Amino acid sequence: MNQTVRIFDTTLRDGEQSPGATLTSAEKLEVARSLARLGVDVIEAGFPAASPDDLEAVRRIAMEIGQPHNGKQPPIICGLARATRNDIEKAWQAVSPAARPRIHTFIATSPIHMQYKLQMEPEKVVKKATEMVAFARSLCEDIEFSPEDAGRSEPEFLYHILSEVVAAGATTLNIPDTVGYQTPDEFGDLIRGIMKNVKGIENCIVSVHCHNDLGLATANALAGIRAGARQAEVTVNGIGERAGNTSLEEVVMALHTRHPVYGLDTNIDTTQIMHVSKQVSNYTGILVQPNKAIVGANAFAHEAGIHQDGMLKHQQTYEIMRPETVGVKQSRLVLGKHSGRHALKVRLAELGYELNEEEVVQIFKRFKVLADKKKEILDADLEALISDELYQPVEIYQLDGLQVACGTMGMPTATVRLIGPDEKVYIHAAIGTGPVDAAYNAMDEIIQAPNKLIEFSIHAITEGIDALGEVTVRISDSQQQRLTAQRDAAQPRTFGGYGADTDIVVASAKAYLSAINKLLVATGAEIPSA
Ligand code: KIV
Ligand code: ZN
Repeated sequence: MNQTVRIFDTTLRDGEQSPGATLTSAEKLEVARSLARLGVDVIEAGFPAASPDDLEAVRRIAMEIGQPHNGKQPPIICGLARATRNDIEKAWQAVSPAARPRIHTFIATSPIHMQYKLQMEPEKVVKKATEMVAFARSLCEDIEFSPEDAGRSEPEFLYHILSEVVAAGATTLNIPDTVGYQTPDEFGDLIRGIMKNVKGIENCIVSVHCHNDLGLATANALAGIRAGARQAEVTVNGIGERAGNTSLEEVVMALHTRHPVYGLDTNIDTTQIMHVSKQVSNYTGILVQPNKAIVGANAFAHEAGIHQDGMLKHQQTYEIMRPETVGVKQSRLVLGKHSGRHALKVRLAELGYELNEEEVVQIFKRFKVLADKKKEILDADLEALISDELYQPVEIYQLDGLQVACGTMGMPTATVRLIGPDEKVYIHAAIGTGPVDAAYNAMDEIIQAPNKLIEFSIHAITEGIDALGEVTVRISDSQQQRLTAQRDAAQPRTFGGYGADTDIVVASAKAYLSAINKLLVATGAEIPSA
């Protein structure tokens, strides 16, 4: 049996469906580039029928990331489609430019979904699935089929429908535990039953797709892999609907760290994990919990004295993985005020950032400003500068100046100066409950993009009074709706924003503006032009 587990990343599809994870197409392209560098086998780039923008974003990824690079074969680029001709045609339109395209089609198979959601008899579902898989196969060689809510479907019915879709041309059979209901023993048994009872299974790859409602997504995926699945569907940081999906880093590092138990490999370059985790967190505005396995800020921190003592005597007393293996850099001191551009460029390359000359110049300018305020610039500072300077959405409005008055003696007031898309300078002053609220009110007065602030978080990147502050916000625009794969009804959209500065009010203003810029692009709002 094949000893490699394919990593199918669905951060840009199932992950992007999590509340607040809306990404611009430029951000999706950058994440796809990082995923390709990470070595994932398949990128599920989106759900093309959801909207013309989604289709275009998948197509761009197929054209740019789905092409051979330096003689290396590119990842498979996959598009999701419900089992309808229209969805499948749109998915094909989006992925066909890729060197290795895949269509992933699905239909629900659990009694509750068939009766209430689809309102279809089981045999009608089988017929529809078979016809649509055959149709997809007439367009594309590589077809994945998912019986949605397989975790609550009758195993016998699954064997039947899966045997039919294999005969119709499916090449990968994905088994989703859509609502995160399964336990590891049950899910392992389900996969074992499928391996044994589905006709033609020997010519297919079986895949696992688990949700984390009971906190069991990784355990279930690993149980499925032990039972014979050779593809795992995962997302970076485990983002996804509700409690999220199986997290990429957990499955990959479990297979890597416990190789003697599983005897299985992946094609992942584990040293890229931290980089892509940060990128996804910054773009989506979804913070990684500090105690998150592998990528949380505390994942390699040892606080208790007894642990520190053990670590000093032998690292493996309390550490089962080396932080460097997942791209956490140990050398903390990097550069100072007198460091030159070349030293900065070398350090950025060591951190995994392949920047062009123009980008290096941009970061160098920011670096010099920061070095005047902060004695030692650490890796974490550089990463924040990159996120703040390069990972921002299209700047429709730019922050050109900010001044606040606050404290206990009067009303918190902020004056904001923005440069608009028409190149005009807009200045507005407003009051608020504090300086951040006042700055947000002033920006709202200028931009006039109705939204609701649903999350605001701030933290210091490094220790010390001169530390950079990092702010993440999420805003929602309840008027703007979009179709998602699991729910046919349209959902409100939310947008994340990120900002970093030694002045936390400035960082807060930048984060809010970056979220608003995303909202303006995504909603096609009317904006003044030059
Ligand atoms: O969770 C799920 O069922 C899905 C399918 C569309 C594969 O995401
Ligand atoms: Zn899912």
